[in-house]
Amino acid sequence: TPPTVKPLDKLGFAAVAKSLEDKVSVPAGYSFSVIYALGDPLRAATADYKNDGSDTDYENRAGDHHDGMEWFGLSADGKPSTTAADRGLLGMNHEATTDEKLSSFFLHANGGTSTLPRPASEVDKELAIHGVSVVEVKKAGDGKWSYVKDSAFNYRLTTLTEMEISGPARGNKLLVTKYSPTGTKTRGTLNNCGTGKTPWGTLLTGEENWAGYFTRSSTDDAARGNDKSVAALKRYGRSQGAASRHGWESAGSEDKYVRWNNSKLGSSADGSDDYRNEMNAQGYIVEIDAYDKSKLAKKRTALGRFAHESAAFGTPVVGKPLAAYMGDDSRGEYIYKFVSAANWDAADANPANRMAAGDKYLDSGKLYVAKFASDGSGQWIELALSNSAIAGYSAYAFADQGDICVNTRLAADAVGATKMDRPEWCSVNPANGEIYFALTNNSNRRVEPSSSSQMAPDSANPRVYTDVKGGSSNQTGNPNGHILRIKEGSAGSTATSFTWDVYLFGAESTAAAGSINLSSLTSDQDLSSPDGLVFSPSTGICWIQTDDGAYTDVTNCMMLAAIPGQVGDGAKKTLSYTKADGSALNVDTYVGKAPTADTLKRFLVGPKDCEITGLCETPDGKAIFVNIQHPGEGTAMANIGDPSKYSSQWPSNAGYGAGKRPRSATIVITKNDGGRIGS
Ligand code: FEO
Ligand code: CA
Ligand code: CA
Ligand code: CA
Repeated sequence: TPPTVKPLDKLGFAAVAKSLEDKVSVPAGYSFSVIYALGDPLRAATADYKNDGSDTDYENRAGDHHDGMEWFGLSADGKPSTTAADRGLLGMNHEATTDEKLSSFFLHANGGTSTLPRPASEVDKELAIHGVSVVEVKKAGDGKWSYVKDSAFNYRLTTLTEMEISGPARGNKLLVTKYSPTGTKTRGTLNNCGTGKTPWGTLLTGEENWAGYFTRSSTDDAARGNDKSVAALKRYGRSQGAASRHGWESAGSEDKYVRWNNSKLGSSADGSDDYRNEMNAQGYIVEIDAYDKSKLAKKRTALGRFAHESAAFGTPVVGKPLAAYMGDDSRGEYIYKFVSAANWDAADANPANRMAAGDKYLDSGKLYVAKFASDGSGQWIELALSNSAIAGYSAYAFADQGDICVNTRLAADAVGATKMDRPEWCSVNPANGEIYFALTNNSNRRVEPSSSSQMAPDSANPRVYTDVKGGSSNQTGNPNGHILRIKEGSAGSTATSFTWDVYLFGAESTAAAGSINLSSLTSDQDLSSPDGLVFSPSTGICWIQTDDGAYTDVTNCMMLAAIPGQVGDGAKKTLSYTKADGSALNVDTYVGKAPTADTLKRFLVGPKDCEITGLCETPDGKAIFVNIQHPGEGTAMANIGDPSKYSSQWPSNAGYGAGKRPRSATIVITKNDGGRIGS
């Protein structure tokens, strides 16, 4: 039985001050410790991490750029448990790697090779540090948490791990490759960012910025006969001839390298002798059984293909379909909802075969995209060929539902969905079922758009202003982001209409109250660029994590705790802009009730050049796990030999591990009096 939600009615800690120090700050009365960092071994046979560029065997180590993370409890005898609070598995994303000029330079002795071709020895490390890890953690008798190096549960999924294609796009011709001529399998998961946990106890991981890892020849268009894959490539932010992020395709003739080249290299008509379709196998929500490494992960194509973040389920209701909410994190992209065809059966909360439950709920259903109206309402529009706007779309001819699942952005364009300010994580408030979306920022929002990539303010994305840092660092658009929330109509998970408001606008506390700091944030509450957003099932706290470039002249990235109200608890507000010709542009929006000192406070500030992302907790709410991603990201590759020039030396300066190269890491936070976190 899941823990009963006993929401806190106020936050009990003293706010943490903004900080530029190279350390983790938590409130008085709380402690943290580092438990799992880049390179930590996941089996006894793998050597301790030297952190000097000489390490290998990354398939058996923690990956890089720790991101979204979920808790999977274990009983004392090693069985899945929803109540265990002192032993469990962390299912964790390893999104990317700190890089410059192709090379993941902290992994290589001399910073690595920044020209093509890349050496296979370097690329093999980089292929292995992306993906997911499952790692056992436990609390000792003295209350100290650590990861279990030799646990039989530990495992890695990397860019090369075999996975199933599942759902409507399984077997589609868009997924035919030399590796899987039937279009039913692929290798690896890539750029895993947000996570989710299913009601039946599996891990969901969202593939985000995967597109940049592939390359396709600039002359390939003619070789393929100008097929519609060119329109698809462009819609996912890529162009023919653009270099791949790491040049992995250059490292040799083996398929594990060649697959990153999506040019037409073979002579087949269907792509079964090359990797022209390989990119179509990335960009999904992937389901993983954290408890059972023998099960193949499954790419759940019914949930669409885009720059996925988290996947958050609405509260399951017996006998009703499940709803899963998702965002597409790119400027001007969309918010989505998947509704299962199957009705929820409480017996599936603890199924004998977890991946079979995934087949039941995640492979068939309806995919919707959100359209927000200026009166505070909104609609979910189904993405299906039965919609004439999709069937008759002039920019792309959809062949079947599988094509819609692969080219979801194009289908959402066809129905005129609302272009959002970069939807990052979403999470569902356990107190009332409302869905919160972090809209992190959007540098392309303009009062008067001057190119096709720019967009005018609308009610759900109403702010346009300039955040002044000086010189070229000034940022125009919506530099600080906001958090929007949705209340479903009376049909609940299957509702096709909803109401919404903006829970919180990010802003510096000193910014203009009437136009920028619309939520009246104080210096204990101010934030920029909300990204990670996770509700605690035990305390009801909404944890807000930042990935910011606009406020980093004043503070490192942070995490705040919030106890929000509900949609409609605030007021309508009209923002007025003046166009170049002197005419007015008025935008109505809906601003949630301003937080108080008891309902929003800064809880943590991270070390230099990090982002705070990913959070899970023990079911008793007494320990939370948080990821510190890419500390020291601003280090120049040329300074790899001189630790004094690393922009961060965390976590070695916190006493963790060998070497001074900065490392992404998981920390655990506990309250010194043993109470619930945030109380
Ligand atoms: Fe990986 Fe959109 O953050
Ligand atoms: Ca993110
Ligand atoms: Ca981000
Ligand atoms: Ca990041």
